[in-house]
This record gives sequence, C-alpha cells and structure tokens, in this order.
Amino acid sequence: MPLTHTKELFAKALKGKYALGAFNVNNMELVQAIVEACEEEKAPLILQISKGARQYANPVYLKKLIEAAVSVSNIPIAVHLDHGDTFELCKQCIDEGFTSVMIDGSHLPFDKNAELCKRVVDYAHKHNCVVEGELGQLVGAQHDDGEEGGGYSKGGVYTHPDEAVEFVKQTNVDSLAVAIGNSHGAYKFKGTQHLNLERLKAIKKALLDAGLGDYPLVLHGASSVPKALVQEINQYGGKLGEDAAGVPEADIEIARRTGCTKVNIDTDLRLALTAGIRKAFAENPKEFDPRKYLGPARAKVKDLVRHKVKNVLCCAGHAFD
Ligand code: G3H
Ligand code: 13P
Ligand code: ZN
Repeated sequence: MPLTHTKELFAKALKGKYALGAFNVNNMELVQAIVEACEEEKAPLILQISKGARQYANPVYLKKLIEAAVSVSNIPIAVHLDHGDTFELCKQCIDEGFTSVMIDGSHLPFDKNAELCKRVVDYAHKHNCVVEGELGQLVGAQHDDGEEGGGYSKGGVYTHPDEAVEFVKQTNVDSLAVAIGNSHGAYKFKGTQHLNLERLKAIKKALLDAGLGDYPLVLHGASSVPKALVQEINQYGGKLGEDAAGVPEADIEIARRTGCTKVNIDTDLRLALTAGIRKAFAENPKEFDPRKYLGPARAKVKDLVRHKVKNVLCCAGHAFD
C-alpha cells in the first residue's frame, strides 16, 4: 500500500470517534515495533520524524525504513514531519514525499506564525501534502496563570478559541496543534494537574460555530509516562525523578472524544525502549550482542503501542474503514 494522506485518515477518525497515534521514530527498532503492533491490531498509523531524528538517523535511512515498513505491511501509513521549524525544512520534506508536515511557528507572534504557516500550506497543497500548524505554547499546566495570564486572555499561553478560528481561516491549514496544559517529556504535571479539557471543548466549538466543521485538532505531549516503566527503569539502574508524570489516560480519552484526532507519542516509546535495554543489561551483564538487548526492548515498545491503539486511542480495527 502506498503512503497515505492524513487528510483521509482524519476524516475517517472524526467520523469513527477514534484518534490516530502519531508515533515518533528515530531508528529501525522503533519503526518495526510500531508498525508490527499496528499491523496486528489493524490500526491506521502516522509515523513522525522530527528534525532531530533526521539529524540522528540521516533522512535517507529514515525514508528507506519507512518504505520498508510500507512494503511489508497492509495498514495505511502516513509519514509526517514533526515540529518543522522553517519553510525550508518543510519544503525539503514535501519534496522528499512526506504526506504531511508540521510547521511549528508557535513561538512567533500570531501574525508571523500565520504568515509562515500560510507559506507552507500554499506550497504543500500544490504538492499534495497536508499541513499541521500550532497555536499556543506547550509549556504545561504549571505555567498557566489563569484568566489574567495563561487563561482566556489573548496574551496567555493556552490556545485561544477565537484565535484558533482566525488562524485556520487565514492559513487554510489542515489541522491545528493546541496548547491546553500539555507539554513534552517525562515531567508534565505536578500533583493532580490535568489537561484543560474545557479549553479544548471551547476551541472545538468555536471552530464548529465558525463554519469550519468537525475540525481536526492535534494533541502534542500525549505520553502518559506509565509508572511501571519509570519504576522498571529505576529498578535496573536508571535515575528518573519521583516527579515523572504524564497525561492520565482518562484525559486522553476525553480529548479523543472531543476531537483530538492526532495524538503525539514519543516519550512513552523512549521509556519502553530504555526499560527493555536496562533490564536486559542488568539480567545479562555478560551479553554484548545488540540483538539480545534491542530485541526485548523492541518487544516492549510493541506491547506499549498495542495498548495505546487498542485501549487509549481506540483506532485498533479501523485500518480498513
Ligand atoms: O516533540 C518532540 C518530539 O518528542 C521529538 O523530539 O526533537 O528530541 O526528536 P526530538
Ligand atoms: P511526548 O513527549 O508526550 O511523547 O510528546 C511527543 C510529541 O508531542 C511529539 O511531537
Ligand atoms: Zn510535539
């Protein structure tokens, strides 16, 4: 099956009320684990590649790995640039055949962000590629100052519903990553903090009321940082902090039902791979065949992805909708 466009995947996901997993890849083991889990669970899939992944693995290697994944599997797979930071990088990926790119101008003032995003959209749409933009800043719940700073005030860090409408209208972007208290990495929340799901609902409603339909939203920073993986890493010599915390799966569930159609997961894959490698090293300190520690680690990532697509994103069984 050739690479698929996220636009088609989004339309089906919105209709079926499930979310698409967008999993970051940097090497062969991650690609294999993710694709095998999704193939076995019949889940549509977005494989995403960051600028750092391109630098680490070499764009040609990653491209060939994805071509291999597409040729050995039957599920629809889209390939997406994660957090593209310049027009030039997005153009390069579009020219290389990516079916989707993200232009992340979220650090820029609204007008500059919209201008950059529109430039990428204009080029991408001429070349049959889909674009994700971002509005608001992914600084996490601990930096929301409420109404005065990070609340609904337009100077705040969370995505403002009216600005989301304006941004989509000005840029014609195909999907929008929102800031609702989400953040990247393994230390997302303190205590009992959650995503601001009311804000998410308000953004979704504003887009609908503005005539933009059931518009696809994207949730970055969607790793749950499972306690069991953190404990396993620490049991086998790791030193992750006590305060490692991710997005509760129940929050993802509500985000999914509210229309977060693309859910980005990287940290949880890193944790699973690390736990697998640490365990293998600790149990077999004499082992030095990479297959003996990367193999079990790959299996752990596969189990994690299987759990996500079946129980959290609910896209299992929807590959051939
Ligand atoms: O959002 C960022 C992703 O987790 C990719 O991270 O830039 O370290 O590859 P990276
Ligand atoms: P996590 O760090 O929560 O896995 O988020 C990944 C992400 O948003 C990639 O763009
Ligand atoms: Zn992200």
